[in-house]
Amino acid sequence: PPLYIITPTYRRPEQLAELTRLAHTLMLTPNVHWLVIEDAQRKTDLVTDLLERTGLSYDHLLAPMPEIYKKKKKGPKPRGVSNRNKGLNWIRQNAKNGVLYFADDDNTYDLQLFKEIRYTKQVSMFPVGLITKLGISSPIVRNGKFDGFYDGWIAGRKFPVDMAGFAVSVKFLLDRPKAGMPFKPGFEEDGFLKSLEPLEPYELELLAENCTKIWVWHTQAKRNEPSQPLDFAKYNNTNLVVLKH
Ligand code: UGA
Ligand code: MN
Repeated sequence: PPLYIITPTYRRPEQLAELTRLAHTLMLTPNVHWLVIEDAQRKTDLVTDLLERTGLSYDHLLAPMPEIYKKKKKGPKPRGVSNRNKGLNWIRQNAKNGVLYFADDDNTYDLQLFKEIRYTKQVSMFPVGLITKLGISSPIVRNGKFDGFYDGWIAGRKFPVDMAGFAVSVKFLLDRPKAGMPFKPGFEEDGFLKSLEPLEPYELELLAENCTKIWVWHTQAKRNEPSQPLDFAKYNNTNLVVLKH
């Protein structure tokens, strides 16, 4: 059964670098269908070209963030939510079995992760490295059993976990037609996992050797300070495409 990888992405200077790294990871993984979903009105040509060159099985979709959130000046925005809901709907219409995983474009993934989540029966969980001041987010496992969550931001959540820290069986999703992700910054993971009811934390399948290994890291690219652009034409380098915000 295939692994459906749902990747939200948006136009920015780092986009192609992030997607290239993830693409090359997925190219080393068998039986993957990659759903690359852009928060944009039109497909980005550089993304289309990359996807074509990978030889991967993929769909390149669009799901712009609704204007009401995009316009928001104060506070965090619900990043990647319309993209992920679009991916869930695609799965509802096109998939029968297998496993889905939300893979942000900027994280770093060990191939071992994909080997393990492929056998998810309902919902599996595992640690995520390099996240918050604590440096890790993970289910706590005691004597082989679930015994709570370790996370830098509990915030009253039933499932205080990161987007990269769980995988879901497609059948389990299909049995829950109302499941989806809320446009609620900080509570996207919790909202989605709660929408998979009935599901209790003690039922989670604990991977990564009882959550003692890190197979995914919440890496983030460091952005350079913007500066006056050089006049590329002057340097006879007119073919270089510079992505702007
Ligand atoms: C944190 C959490 O680690 C994610 O699990 C959570 O999805 C995210 O916050 C969130 O707020 O939604 P963080 O690294 O801060 O992740 O967020 P980004 O990596 O900037 O964005 C998450 C995903 O959404 C990425 O794949 C990104 O390409 C995409 N995104 C981001 C959009 O599609 N549109 C945007 O405007 C921003
Ligand atoms: Mn990120």
